[in-house]
Amino acid sequence: MKPKMKLGILSCSPHCYSTRRLREAAEERGHDPKVLNTLKFGIDLRQEEPDLYYRSKHLSHYDAILPRIGASITYFGTAVVRQFEQMDVFCTNTSAGITNSRDKLRSLQILSRHRIGIPETTFARDRKDLLPAIERVGGAPVIIKLLEGTQGVGVVLAETAKVAEAIIETLQSANQNVLIQKFVAESKGRDVRAFVIGDHVVASMRRVAQGSEFRSNVHRGGVTEAIELDEVYSETAVRAAQIMGLRVAGVDMLEGHDGPQVMEVNSSPGLEGIETCTQLDIAGAIVDYIAAQVNFPEIDIRQRLTVSRGYGVTEIHIPEGSEYVGRTVKESGLHDRDINVLTLYRGTSVIPNPRSARPLEAGDRLLCFGKLEQMRAMIPEKSRKKRRTKMKELPPQD
Ligand SMILES: Nc1ncnc2c1ncn2[C@@H]1O[C@H](COP(=O)(O)OP(=O)(O)O)[C@@H](O)[C@H]1O
Ligand SMILES: [Mg+2]
Repeated sequence: MKPKMKLGILSCSPHCYSTRRLREAAEERGHDPKVLNTLKFGIDLRQEEPDLYYRSKHLSHYDAILPRIGASITYFGTAVVRQFEQMDVFCTNTSAGITNSRDKLRSLQILSRHRIGIPETTFARDRKDLLPAIERVGGAPVIIKLLEGTQGVGVVLAETAKVAEAIIETLQSANQNVLIQKFVAESKGRDVRAFVIGDHVVASMRRVAQGSEFRSNVHRGGVTEAIELDEVYSETAVRAAQIMGLRVAGVDMLEGHDGPQVMEVNSSPGLEGIETCTQLDIAGAIVDYIAAQVNFPEIDIRQRLTVSRGYGVTEIHIPEGSEYVGRTVKESGLHDRDINVLTLYRGTSVIPNPRSARPLEAGDRLLCFGKLEQMRAMIPEKSRKKRRTKMKELPPQD
């Protein structure tokens, strides 16, 4: 039997379905949940003593925090979560993760360096750059999105490049930032919502837009059906959530010709739609997950490492013909040079804490922690990545 947890649910709507279900699920499991109104905190900063007040009283001890931060209070809400992090309280989602997920450009920028399918997207500002940008993502019809829209509001399908350009200019003149995205027509008004908790997709559904609508959001009349995700979709959803820094997330994916295309990762995914559709106890799964993880609050590695002067983290590549190819991790001598291999990336596989007897191969990438001076010599000169052929025809511009 797990010990009883004091769980703070940060929410501005104590009676809404998700908050109510989470509180009930925690109570059913013998925990002590409290719904805390996110906007009633005071954040106190003092040397070595980050502290929190709730309704002007000193906040008592909490074992874990489950943030449900609405889009309209992101700034204050993430500040409260960040304060809990500074106080070493376990939070299901980090403030950085929530911030990343709130901005569609920021989240796609973060995902784009990884092997995760995303719809081709571009962000441009100058009037003269708009039409070329639209062409680069495949031309009209094209999707225009507000960076911080939710529930389908702020997503437009422009039939022609001219219309797209006019919409973008109008929005920009109202000081709204927009991104331009390839319209994934083959998804046919359908998308997939995968509910991720930790390393698993615990539930998933397909949402189908109705009538002439291309947006499948439930708030836009989308109809849901429970589905079983295949390995590729599940793996993509879990990795996308983890890359964003979220342990509980709703990952939205289009069904593209080449597999899943992640559109966005939601940090406070609603429970009502997915629990009703799948008949699964997702609130219970979240509470169980928190109980199992509560001893592992997020550590901001960069912040902590800064204190170890002269040490840092870097990625070392093992190219073809390198002296390290064929040697084991131990024989590589890295350890003798005060370099620890944290993770080995090989093709699509990720090997955490590789054992010392494991031989290295050409193409391996080693995520290392060690003395920067020692690691410097092992980092090859920056070579510009080859661009995909499509861009070839265009002359480079500075
Ligand atoms: N690139 C795209 N191609 C096709 N349909 C899209 C595309 N982007 C969004 N949609 C449709 O619009 C809906 C809302 O888009 P999304 O980016 O998730 O914004 P929101 O945060 O408002 O839900 C999606 O669920 C999907 O049905
Ligand atoms: Mg969405």
